[in-house]
Amino acid sequence: MTEPASAAGAGASTAGAAIAIGGPPAIDEPEVIVGATPDEVSDRAARRIVDRLGAAIAQHGRADFVTTGGSTPVGIYDVIASTLRDAIDWSLVHFWWSDDRFVPRDHPLSNVQAADSILFAVSQFAGQSGNLLDGSDVERGLEPGLLVPAANVHPFPCTEAIAHARGPEWCAGRYAQELQDAPLRVVHGIPAFDVILLGLGPDGHIMSVFPGSEAFDRTEWALAIPAPSHVGPHGARVTLNPAMVGVSRAVLMVTSGESKADVVGRVFTEPRDVRQLPAQMVRNRASTWIVDEAAASKLPPKVKRTG
Ligand code: 6PG
Repeated sequence: MTEPASAAGAGASTAGAAIAIGGPPAIDEPEVIVGATPDEVSDRAARRIVDRLGAAIAQHGRADFVTTGGSTPVGIYDVIASTLRDAIDWSLVHFWWSDDRFVPRDHPLSNVQAADSILFAVSQFAGQSGNLLDGSDVERGLEPGLLVPAANVHPFPCTEAIAHARGPEWCAGRYAQELQDAPLRVVHGIPAFDVILLGLGPDGHIMSVFPGSEAFDRTEWALAIPAPSHVGPHGARVTLNPAMVGVSRAVLMVTSGESKADVVGRVFTEPRDVRQLPAQMVRNRASTWIVDEAAASKLPPKVKRTG
């Protein structure tokens, strides 16, 4: 297996390459929390996320949260927007995306849709108060949702790119610049976030980093990824560089359901090769997996589970 690219000057093992992949040596296993149901998984994940964001705010007055796409965040957002809506000062939290499909923000396939409709109040997408101008229904607690300044919400600029007839490369370049301009901690030449939430693709992909992805050899902070043919949706993608998983504070892999049991089993039993199984980047002691019983059904006995 050829070592993925790693950061110049970074503690990475491979000299000259640009970005270290996978963080601490991959001999250790992550914390694996198993919930009885998908709802319990969402609840535990939401509480872990809010706990880590709160710690970051206490430590440096701001928290940077990378959320994911797919279906996994929906249940987590529901808990955050209701039960945990007053748990921390959300006006100090910045929201970023691990990846997105190259579609407008209000498109059903956009990875921002769920957050706009469940989490965010004070944005032009609130719409709850019927005047599309302010989220007064959410402010008055009549509707679930968080009071997050629109400026704290950092989606990939797919809408702008499409509006200007630009492509995914332009979109990724603009996002990399936005990351550069943000007061983010930089470790080994790459931004380190306080919390990264990830879902697990049936092929073992995370973000939009699919098996055999060129992303492992790239140094840009954000990348355009060609449309995958083997998993849906089959559209062009934009993604963060996967190396961010290796330097960020709290990395949370969340997945549920029988359909994920095979790939969870593969991640924890197959030889480590993050190029072929990108989710193995999250198989280390710095990460936490929260899965339900169904998804955990093929975990090898050696993996310590906490219920
Ligand atoms: C995407 C995601 C992707 C997702 C997995 C899991 O854009 O599709 O970012 O990486 O996290 O495919 O998807 P589910 O949460 O729907 O299982």
